Amino acid sequence: MKKMRLDKFLSEMGVDTRKNLKEMIRCGRITVNGQPAAKPELRVDAETDLVAADGVPVVYEEFQYFMLNKPQGVVTASRDRFQRTVLDLLPAPRRRDLSPVGRLDKDTEGLLLITNDGVLSHRLLAPGRHVPKEYYAVIDGRVGSADQHAFQEGLDIGDETPTLPADLFILEAGELSRVIVTIEEGRFHQIKRMFEALDKRVTFLKRLSMGPLRLDECLKPGESRRLTQEELKELMKLKNARER
Ligand code: URA
Repeated sequence: MKKMRLDKFLSEMGVDTRKNLKEMIRCGRITVNGQPAAKPELRVDAETDLVAADGVPVVYEEFQYFMLNKPQGVVTASRDRFQRTVLDLLPAPRRRDLSPVGRLDKDTEGLLLITNDGVLSHRLLAPGRHVPKEYYAVIDGRVGSADQHAFQEGLDIGDETPTLPADLFILEAGELSRVIVTIEEGRFHQIKRMFEALDKRVTFLKRLSMGPLRLDECLKPGESRRLTQEELKELMKLKNARER
């Protein structure tokens, strides 16, 4: 049993703002078990009562999880007064407590998890957890074994401490090189700064995975979908694992 106010239930599920919901309820557009709801303060059981807005059932979920293929040109933030954010790319209605897990630069694309599960988010980002993140990158310049060695050793990128050992796999070396980088940290502009420390420039960056979660290549940039049960199962293992 999870009893809560009707307007809270509906606003948490992103149906509308509390102010607009009050109006919707007054106009009989919200029903509970088939009957128009009388008032916003009505207490409903989020698990058993059938709530509908304009005839469309609204199912209560404590947590929501979305995978977004972040496109370039969009900022990783929940809200921004001037620029389009990753949250704007999720289908409406959207609940207001969703946030991106970690940050991709405006010109980086790829996997971004968006959720209101703060504990999972914290676990994925906690430095002590060393959750691996894999990126595909195109580099202006020839990447070679000396660079691989430097990544393994850890690089001075101007922070207090050098980077942790990172894996650099070369797919193709040439004037432009194509590589896969795996890091276990999430410092600001980390991959760009690691290559800069080696006098090379990242010209394209795309995140492929974060812990057990892999980007669904069927998602075009800008597209999102809910996580599957299988993906959630893997993330819950990480959420519930004790820190080593
Ligand atoms: N490293 C970067 O430099 N940028 C990103 O967006 C992610 C990792």
